[in-house]
Amino acid sequence: MTALSAQPSPPNRAQARPVIELRSVRKTYYKPDGTVMVEALRGVDITILQGEYVAIMGASGSGKSTLLNLLGCLDQPTQGDYLLDGQNIRDMSDAELSIFRGRKIGFVFQAFNLIPQLRIEENVETPLFYQGVSKRDRRARAIASLEKVGLGDRIGHRPSELSGGQQQRVAIARALVTDPVVLMADEPTGNLDSTTGEAILQLFESLHAKGMTIIMVTHADSIADRCERIIRLRDGVVESDRILRKLG
Ligand SMILES: Nc1ncnc2c1ncn2[C@@H]1O[C@H](COP(=O)(O)OP(=O)(O)OP(=O)(O)O)[C@@H](O)[C@H]1O
Ligand SMILES: [Mg+2]
Repeated sequence: MTALSAQPSPPNRAQARPVIELRSVRKTYYKPDGTVMVEALRGVDITILQGEYVAIMGASGSGKSTLLNLLGCLDQPTQGDYLLDGQNIRDMSDAELSIFRGRKIGFVFQAFNLIPQLRIEENVETPLFYQGVSKRDRRARAIASLEKVGLGDRIGHRPSELSGGQQQRVAIARALVTDPVVLMADEPTGNLDSTTGEAILQLFESLHAKGMTIIMVTHADSIADRCERIIRLRDGVVESDRILRKLG
């Protein structure tokens, strides 16, 4: 794509609500004997606004997955604060955090992580089970979510009866079924061929156009260049944070 240098913030950034605020976040992995093994994040400050479409990049080992796991509340910072949708997760117990995560975040993995024994609509409704949604509402919302990703005609099938790209769309439907405030994806097209990956990117772009906040880890410049903003990590710190443009 055309080279775009960092531009002044679009005026609407000032009005948008922060969905994610990381303040001086550090993540240290320790050895069993308590000595430091790796300082994976060494003071990270990031604010992500509602509706942004953000790529996280950086070399292998720079801390991308560690960062996404913290953002996704799969792990907690060693130091610093993380406010998700305005609430500081530091104050939450593990049980509270897991409920909060389920309500606020949709997570898409490189390897889809579908349950092979379950039909796709059963896969999609699993997050609602943990929220105490009634069986009938679970099914209705799962079907609506599958229709949103263009898989209404595959209902009743198991993951193995779908292509890789369709399986990733099931995983995206599952991530969306709870109506999260942010969709997070770690290399979502990493296991797909380029044509199939392209369809997933177009799906992300249409979700983004409807207002979804999306944060995606990617190694590919060609993918990151289609986002609005690129945050680049290096050795556990933010090396650069560029707003490319406002999409949509
Ligand atoms: N559970 C863990 N225990 C100990 N060290 C870890 C753990 N997870 C990650 N690390 C270390 O933290 C650093 C950052 O790892 P991370 O997985 O976040 O990198 P990454 O940017 O996602 O890399 P890749 O592109 O290879 O996926 C690395 O040095 C890694 O070895
Ligand atoms: Mg990683």
